[in-house]
Parts: sequence; C-alpha cells; structure tokens
Amino acid sequence: MEMGLSAGFDVVAHRGAMGYAPENTLASFRKAIALGATMIELDVHLTKDHEVVVIHDSDLVRTTTGRGLVEEMTLTEIQSFDAGIAMGPEFRGEKVPALQEVMELVNHQAALNIEIKAGRTLYPAIVDKVLQIIADYRAEDEVVISSFHKAYLREARQKAPKLEVAVLFDKLSPDTLDEAVQEKWQSLHPWYRLVDGELMEEARRRGLLVRAWTVNRAPEMTRLLQLGVNGIITNFPDLLRSTATGVSAEQTAADQSEGGF
Ligand code: G3P
Ligand code: CA
Repeated sequence: MEMGLSAGFDVVAHRGAMGYAPENTLASFRKAIALGATMIELDVHLTKDHEVVVIHDSDLVRTTTGRGLVEEMTLTEIQSFDAGIAMGPEFRGEKVPALQEVMELVNHQAALNIEIKAGRTLYPAIVDKVLQIIADYRAEDEVVISSFHKAYLREARQKAPKLEVAVLFDKLSPDTLDEAVQEKWQSLHPWYRLVDGELMEEARRRGLLVRAWTVNRAPEMTRLLQLGVNGIITNFPDLLRSTATGVSAEQTAADQSEGGF
C-alpha cells in the first residue's frame, strides 16, 4: 500500500481505466493496474455459445465496429470486431475479452468487481458460468459480484456463500439496507449522489461496506472520502489515488493535532 492511502480503501477502476483506454478491454485493464487501481470494475454478458464476455451494453454497436445482440452471437463472431479503434488508432485490434482472458491478464494484481448485466431478459446460466470461472482461477477472495438484478445476487449468495456480493442501486428505497442484511449481501454500491452522512451511518450500523459510483472529479471524491466510503468507482484511478492520499494525510494531521502532537 502507498504511504497515506487508507488501509482497506478500494480504488476501483470503472470498466478499467476508461478515462484513458477503451472501456472493458484488456488495454483498459492493463492501464488500470499501471495507475494503481486496487480493484477493477467490469461488466459481463453471455454469448449465444454460453461464453462470459466483458462488455457493458447488450448490443455491440456503441463500443465495437460490429452490431447485433451479444446473446445472438458467438464469442468468435463478437471477437471478429474491433473494440478499440473508436478511441484512437493506438487501440486498433482490441477485442471484446472473454472473462477468462481478463482473469489471466489481471492475475491477482487487483481485485475484480464483476457486474452481471442482463440481455433482453436475465441470462439463466450466467451466474453459474461466472462462479465457475472465479473458482477456476482461485479468485474467490479477490472478487465482488455486483448487479442491479437482485435475482443474480440471491443466486450468487446461495451458490457461493463466502463470495462478496454487492447490491447496485441508483435510487434509495427505505428497505434497501435491511434487505442487504437479510440477504447476506455484504456491500452497497450506490450512485454517488445518494451517499451522505446518514447513509454512511446506517450502513456502518449494519456492517455494510459502501463503494460509490461513478466519480470523476476530485471535489466529489474528497466529499465521499471524508464521509468514510470504503471505495470509489472512477474512470480515473490515478486521480482518485492522489486525492485519497491527500485526504488521508490531512486526516492524520488533524488526528495528531487533536491528540496534542
Ligand atoms: O458498478 C457501477 C457502475 O458501473 C454501474 O453503472 O452503467 O457504468 O454499469 P454502469
Ligand atoms: Ca458497470
């Protein structure tokens, strides 16, 4: 750990370091590690031939040179398209990676936050597939499964009792925190604007971790760090790292002056 960065605080690179490289590509994950991310967030869908692929949308059109639904195409078909060129010629040749390729690249250098997405409906086999890959790479202690889809989270909790599970939300309903406790989901991944002192206090009282998304500006990172969030998901892990180091140093100085140093 770098001097000054609080122990246990997660610098989470959103879709890799997507501020610098095409989202959800190996280039983006490589960059995230180089910039000091301690956790990498990525999105997964299931192909027609039941491979877990790392892509945000259910359709190829926004992020690749192809078009069509992931669920209607094979991995080979999907990987025939370019997922890097849109961000610049230096990224030409980047592909939509299979989750196994990401596991091999990351190779335990950072934790992973695997967000499970849906196609036209929920993918019935995707949780089993993701859990199998995590087990194959012996990454159980380094993975957080998250989703907006609670059925996936319940299935993951039931089939992998030790795995960390996080519920994603962009609106706060009165029972979200109690539901997380009841379902044995360890973490909350709220939209950052929902995070305030009250949410943090309620989360702490219930023993829940809080990682906020997606925060790309230093003043907002500082606000969240001062509230004591456990992690921040950002397109710019280097900015988060330097901001967190600064906030942590200020807090240490304040603690020392209070203690009479
Ligand atoms: O995991 C937080 C964030 O990634 C959720 O939103 O749309 O970027 O997948 P989105
Ligand atoms: Ca995501």
